[in-house]
Formats: sequence, C-alpha cells, structure tokens
Amino acid sequence: MQKGLFITFEGADGCGKTTQLNLLAQYLEKQGKEILVTREPGAKGLGEKLREILLNYDGEVSDRCEFFLFLADRAQHIDTIVTPAIQSGKIVLCDRHIDSTTAYQGYGRGIDIDRINKLNMAATNNKKPDLTFVFDVDAKTAAKRVGKSKDRMESAGSAFFNRVRQGYLELAKQEPERIKVINAARSIEEVQEEVKKILLNFVK
Ligand code: TYD
Repeated sequence: MQKGLFITFEGADGCGKTTQLNLLAQYLEKQGKEILVTREPGAKGLGEKLREILLNYDGEVSDRCEFFLFLADRAQHIDTIVTPAIQSGKIVLCDRHIDSTTAYQGYGRGIDIDRINKLNMAATNNKKPDLTFVFDVDAKTAAKRVGKSKDRMESAGSAFFNRVRQGYLELAKQEPERIKVINAARSIEEVQEEVKKILLNFVK
C-alpha cells in the first residue's frame, strides 16, 4: 500500500528541472519531511552503468535499443529504489521518468506512442507518478543553459528539442490532473514559488 508520494520532474534539456528539484528537496527537508532524491537514467547501482551507456556510448545505438535501455533502467529503479521508499512513507523526488520516454523516444525519435505507453507501464508495474512538473522553455533559452559541453542526447539539435517540448505539452493536455506545466523561462525563485504552490495545493 502507498504511504509516501512520488513526484517527477520533467522537461527538455536545459529547462532547469534539476535545480528546481534540489530547491524543493531543501525546502521539504527543512519542514522535517523524509525525502528521497533520485533520477533516471542512472540511480544508484546498476542504473549508474546504464546511464554511462545511454549518455556516453559513442558507437551506433539504434532507437529501439535506446528505448529498451531506458525501460530497463526504469524497471530496476522502480523495483529497487522508488517503490521501497514510497512504501516506507518517503516523498520521492525523481529527475525524469516515464514522460521522458514518451517525449524523447516517442515525440523526439518517432517510436509509436501507444507502444511506449504499454511498455512504460510494464516497466513501472503500472505505477504512475502522483504528481509531475513539466518545466517548459524555448529552445534558445534552453541552449544557453546547457552551454557548450553536451552529452549524446543534448547534441540532437533544435528540431529534436522542439518535438520533445511539444510532446511534453501534449502529455500535459492529456493528463492535466497529474502533469502541471510551469513556465521555466522565469527566474529560479519565481519558478520555485510556483512549484511549491502547486505541491501545497496537491497535498491539501
Ligand atoms: P538528464 O540526466 O536529466 O540530463 P540533464 O540533467 O542534462 O537534463 O537526462 C539525460 C538524458 O536522457 C536527457 O537528454 C533525456 C534523456 N532521456 C530519454 O531520452 N528518455 C528517457 O526515458 C529518460 C529517462 C531520459
């Protein structure tokens, strides 16, 4: 049975989600909440090895192989890290999860969305996050934030970025209860205020 809360942070590369996640983590900890900060791909253990392949392997990676590697990482993460933490009553803050696969491998790379939905649910054992923040920014702002040193995914270009971005907005339209879009082109403080407001509303 669920006792804790599962919150995910999503958005295209350079949207600032990791900064917002860490700020929220500090805020919740100050309030005495038990939290777990984690990420996909590449939580502790096997996930770190999968992340290394996904972000740095410089040979050919087929789109379907990439898709299955993200799913494999997700299944391991849910089973060994996320579910135990939620069951022990923690608030889990996770940097990227199922919606990244729909946005990047689906809208970005063109893998069939229905297939992704089914396999995402297989990877998580039918569990979706309780609440998801999508940090929305335009390609130019994002590129400035990412800077010059880019990983394999970040090197995919602005057309890819825009497909990913539109994918997230589409997802939010389909699941407005779970997925909240935040304009992330504003200052860190303004964005964090909105994150807190949405979370307080959600737990009320
Ligand atoms: P992340 O570590 O969040 O990168 P950053 O902190 O630079 O935003 O994510 C790594 C990359 O993996 C990112 O470009 C998005 C990509 N990704 C997918 O394509 N599909 C997925 O299912 C996940 C979880 C991530």
